[in-house]
Amino acid sequence: MLNLGILAAGRIARQMAMTVTQTDCGVRPYAVAARDGARAEAFAKEFGFEKSYEGYGALLADPAVDMVYIATTHNFHRENVIAALEAGKHVLCEKPLTVNEAWARELFALAREKNLLLAEAVWTRCMPFVPALRGVIESGAIGRVHLLTANMGAKLSGKDRIALPELAGGILLDFTMYTLTLADLVLGEPSAPPVGVCQKNEHGMDLQNAVVMTYPGGEVASLSATGCAMSDNKAVIFGDTGRIELCDFWHPQELTVITDGRDMKRLPLPFDATGYEYEVREFARTAEAGGLECPSLPAAATLRILRQMDALRAAWGIRYPFE
Ligand SMILES: NC(=O)c1ccc[n+]([C@@H]2O[C@H](COP(=O)([O-])OP(=O)(O)OC[C@H]3O[C@@H](n4cnc5c(N)ncnc54)[C@H](OP(=O)(O)O)[C@@H]3O)[C@@H](O)[C@H]2O)c1
Repeated sequence: MLNLGILAAGRIARQMAMTVTQTDCGVRPYAVAARDGARAEAFAKEFGFEKSYEGYGALLADPAVDMVYIATTHNFHRENVIAALEAGKHVLCEKPLTVNEAWARELFALAREKNLLLAEAVWTRCMPFVPALRGVIESGAIGRVHLLTANMGAKLSGKDRIALPELAGGILLDFTMYTLTLADLVLGEPSAPPVGVCQKNEHGMDLQNAVVMTYPGGEVASLSATGCAMSDNKAVIFGDTGRIELCDFWHPQELTVITDGRDMKRLPLPFDATGYEYEVREFARTAEAGGLECPSLPAAATLRILRQMDALRAAWGIRYPFE
């Protein structure tokens, strides 16, 4: 079983620690590192991790660590991934893998060179709803799909990691990447780069945006994201004879299928634990088998979504200071 080291002790790191200690994910919760050693120690104690380290380098120097989960802010992912791969660890890195497509390509090339598994932790792609959704669409229950809408929002605009350019802020990398991911899962590759509008904060980071894409079959995706308001966090896939609704669409535990405008069926898809277990299990299975790519988290998907976000940022004139 792989020994897991968690790099950073923030909000999502806690979710991951909760997940791997609550349910069998095929990994052994082993170590955590934070910039502040006392915080790492408190985290390790709370979740029963064997080791805690002050500083990420100390965790990476521990030969017992087989894989690391990177849970730092967006701007640090690239240097953290490089350091982890150079230290010989398999890497599951929080989304976005890095802030642009070109850097992500370099990271995947380095992982291949080192014969290590690298995957972007897009938990949505690994969830049970994905095959279930495909099954409903392929069954023809809603007819031919024409339109997808998705909205994601929460009041995050005051948080440094959303507000500040030096932390690669903006709602694009945080929320829009999920709306783009759902469109990618359902409709595939668009026929042209996305177009959109955004509203920026005083630091030039996008706090709200609306994005549209068209597809070779004439389908349209209409996506919105906000860091300023509570959204319904709903996605709807509209076909010519019905629709599928997803609540909290990036981690839904139910599909609602509505046909003929009235017949409603609910398809429950409860998680085993928090929803993060699926990506960890797939990662562990793949790494143990010597695989260099997780089937649900392929490099090509990471690169496609980053390419779309690169196009939106270019159009909006958003560039991070460290890029
Ligand atoms: N998959 C999901 O559902 C999900 C949900 C939320 C967030 N995320 C992703 O997870 C990542 C972290 O988000 P979060 O919500 O956990 O953020 P957070 O609570 O702010 O934690 C970020 C961590 O980054 C580390 N860090 C290192 N240098 C830093 C610096 N100079 N300033 C600020 N932080 C620094 C800190 O680590 P130390 O503990 O070492 O101080 C901190 O714990 C992001 O990539 C985000 O997109 C994913």
